[in-house]
Amino acid sequence: MNTTPNTASPARVYLETYGCQMNVADSELVGGILRGAGYVHTDSPAEADVILVNTCAIREHAEDRVLRRLSELAHFKRARPATRIGLLGCMAQHNRASLLGRAPWLDLVAGPDSYRRLPELLDHARFDAAVDVRLDRGETYAGLNSDHAAGIRAYVTAMRGCDRFCTFCVVPYVRGRERSVPPASILAEVRELAARGVKEIVLLGQTVNAYREGEVEFGGLLRMVAAIEGIERIRFTSPHPCNMTDPVIDAMVSEPKVQPYLHLPLQSGSNSMLAAMQRGYTVEQYLALVDRVRASIPKLALSTDIIVGFYGETEADFEATLSLMRTVRYDSAFSFKYSVREHTRAHPLGDSVSEDEKARRLAAVIELQQAIALERNRESLGHEVAVLIEGPARRGGGMMAGKTPQFKTAIVPARPGVEPGDTVVARVEAVTAQSLICARV
Ligand code: 5AD
Ligand code: SF4
Repeated sequence: MNTTPNTASPARVYLETYGCQMNVADSELVGGILRGAGYVHTDSPAEADVILVNTCAIREHAEDRVLRRLSELAHFKRARPATRIGLLGCMAQHNRASLLGRAPWLDLVAGPDSYRRLPELLDHARFDAAVDVRLDRGETYAGLNSDHAAGIRAYVTAMRGCDRFCTFCVVPYVRGRERSVPPASILAEVRELAARGVKEIVLLGQTVNAYREGEVEFGGLLRMVAAIEGIERIRFTSPHPCNMTDPVIDAMVSEPKVQPYLHLPLQSGSNSMLAAMQRGYTVEQYLALVDRVRASIPKLALSTDIIVGFYGETEADFEATLSLMRTVRYDSAFSFKYSVREHTRAHPLGDSVSEDEKARRLAAVIELQQAIALERNRESLGHEVAVLIEGPARRGGGMMAGKTPQFKTAIVPARPGVEPGDTVVARVEAVTAQSLICARV
């Protein structure tokens, strides 16, 4: 089949992305695949020949947002009927049965393992709706070129899928089984990024520290990436607490490029909830891990994910989560109201906590975390931090913004000759819960 667009000028693709970093990285992959097939990118949906939306299915709220946006985008098809509209990613996989009924003007539905076939599917979609939602446990997209966004930080997929099946989570159903990208493919991608001036690599995977390809486990992969010249900082997300093995911790300790920041998704501070979620650890085991990483890695920053209102969560369970947050004192936390997801093991149970009560619990988690983050940031007042500069500060004012090794946003005065990609040493003069305001030293 002819996989190049058969119009006189190259077909223009507009691509919108929802959801996690993995989705952002997948959109960069899709951009690369379509560029390779002769398509060009456009920032304007009104001018696009192809409109693609890469979607998230993790919570119902995320799906509702995408459906609303899709019906907005459908207007462009009314104005230009030859425009093809496609839905990619987790929601395509999750709602495969009902999507074409709910959005009959969709021309393409493609799940996360179907991107290699996109040019072919888009050709087909000129005549008839094209649907490909087969999961492929061997697909890692190794060796394909992504269209990485410009910048000093780049996201590189190390593994795909998830085998853990936490009872609340749809990811294993929509992204399929766990598989790791061969090290050679990851290293080639990082080398190319380094040659383009990228300074910071974030290795991605749903349980990224479960990475294993032949003899290479995640600690080994971190060391291999660290050996690449030009790369100054390495991060990864999201690790799972159960996969924080000695080799991974050792790599964080002994490899200075691996930054002192760890995202350790907790979900709940109650043992009965953790068991119901099938998270694979107890509160005691989690706290022992926190002690171990803090004892091993100096100045480590910790962040987490918390779900409130999971099925069966009592007031006492919820209080246990707040109490654990006070014990650990995270630098930051992402918190969510539990959302019942079809296909998951907890789906048949439904909801036991009202929407209002979930909202109250979420607000309490956010308020507590804000207070802790502010306290933590205050501890750095007067300290010197190494800031990798990313660009002008959002509020301007002759300031530049970047990140500290702990992944905190730092605002520093601009100086002639200092450019994105440079690391400057600055002293913390004032703080908010979100950022450090610094003076140059
Ligand atoms: N409801 C609410 N939050 C969820 N997460 C995953 N599934 C759900 C759900 N059904 C959260 C978890 C996970 C993060 C990426 O999203 O906290 O760590
Ligand atoms: Fe979902 Fe659990 Fe896998 Fe994370 S580890 S992606 S929460 S199933």
